[in-house]
This record gives sequence, structure tokens and C-alpha cells, in this order.
Amino acid sequence: MLLLNHESGVPMRKKIVGSSWKMHVNTKSDVTDLAVAIREGVKSIRNIDMFLIPTFPLIEHLSYILADSQIAWGAQNVAFADYGAYTGEVSAATLADFGCTYVEIGHAERRTYFNETDHSVNKKVRICLEYGLTPLVCIGETKSEKDDFVGKIRVKSQLLWAIDCVKKEDISKIVFAYEPVWAIGQSEGADADYVEDMHKYIRKVLSDEVSDEVAQNVRIIYGGSVKLESANDLINKENVDGLFTGRFALQASNYIAIAQCVSDYCKEKEGK
Ligand code: PGA
Repeated sequence: MLLLNHESGVPMRKKIVGSSWKMHVNTKSDVTDLAVAIREGVKSIRNIDMFLIPTFPLIEHLSYILADSQIAWGAQNVAFADYGAYTGEVSAATLADFGCTYVEIGHAERRTYFNETDHSVNKKVRICLEYGLTPLVCIGETKSEKDDFVGKIRVKSQLLWAIDCVKKEDISKIVFAYEPVWAIGQSEGADADYVEDMHKYIRKVLSDEVSDEVAQNVRIIYGGSVKLESANDLINKENVDGLFTGRFALQASNYIAIAQCVSDYCKEKEGK
């Protein structure tokens, strides 16, 4: 079913502001400081989805802090199997047990440093869906792919791999994070027009390969050096359904400011 806004007839895709803390926030006390400040700072924001993703061992600690809040939590990776002799891996069953909502899959750093492949991304997507977890699938072209004008082909291939053998009704449960590799960890992220063009393209591929309904319902968020200065331009784009923040949101006030910016944008839209 295509969810439409009654007034405008535009698809209703609830906006998301999320943050992965990568391996930046590494102790219980640092998680407490950051998460409590964010939880208090976004208390009045109810019209967007929010999430925080810590390192594996601190998920449980974060879950106690966020338990009665409107902020979800998740994990930065998951094993491609749910049970068995996989030393050092973490099962989707464990993540579900710890109350995770989102599971980040295929981040550029995992693809680069930890041999994450499109094939393993696909297995992880399917296992997350089996356990009722939301796959947060990261896709994006490298600098050389962009320079060689094959960025869209790369993104299409990552996208099609991710959804292969996924039931049609499950595809719109996936959240895609478009994260061009060249824009991660930089002083400036990708330009809002560039991002919008790629998000539109991702939706077109989903429309051609799956259905227009799925393409319109799927949420696509942008990540890569997001800052408050760029948040407003990005969120104003029709096909940008949210922001995935890294370093900038390691300061609670910055995460809160971005969430507020997206929430205000939504309120203004809803009011029209
Ligand atoms: P960054 O990280 O904002 O620090 O560039 C973004 C990401 O990797 O998701």
C-alpha cells in the first residue's frame, strides 16, 4: 500500500535523523554523557524517527538510557549467519534480544577494511529481516568511480545485490543510506543537488526492478560529513528522507540541532 499525505498526495516517508558512533565513544561513561544529553535535548521532538548506534558491547548500556525515550538504538554490523561456529561474530538473534531496531550493513569502512562484500551484505539484510530488525544498508560510489562516471552503476549494483531474494513486501522495510565514499570523513559532504539526483536514481532503480509503490515507500537517507550548515539544504530535497550523521553529532548539541532542524522542516511542511 502506498502511504500518501491526505492533502498533497505526496508519499509519507517519516524523516529520520540517526548517528553511528563508529569506534569514537568507547566507554560506558562516555556513552552515558552523550546519550543522556541527547535524550534530554530531543525530548520534545516527536515527529521524526531518531536512532543512535554505539559499538557492540555498549548496546545494552545505551538501551537502559534510551529505554523510555523515543530514540531507537542499533548495531554497526551483524553476522551473516544466526547461529554456530563463527568466532567473534554477533548474531541478529542477540541484537534483537538487546532491543535493537536498526542494523547498519555494508558501511564503506566495513567494505574497505573488513572485506564486506555485496554478497555478505545481502545475507545480512535477509537475516535482519528474519529477526524483525531494520537493515540500514549503506551504498555509495568511490571517488574513482565518480570520476570515471560509473558511480550510478556502482550504486545500482550494490542496491540490487542488497535486495536480491528479499520478499517484495520486505523491501520497503529496509532503510538505504546513500553514503558516497568520497564524502565520508571530509570537511564538506556531497552537494544537496548531487545527493538528490542519486536518491532519485535509487528510487528509479527500485521502481524499474521492484515496483513504483516500493520505490515511493522506501526511505533513503544521506550520510557523509553532514553538518548543521548542510542539513537544511539536504532535508529540503524531495527524495532525501533523513540524515545519517558521523563526527559532527559526537557533540550532543550538534545532534540535537540537526534533529530540531529536520523536525521543524517537517512541521512547516505538515502545516502547509
Ligand atoms: P562522517 O561519517 O559524518 O564523519 O563523515 C559519516 C558516516 O560514515 O556515516
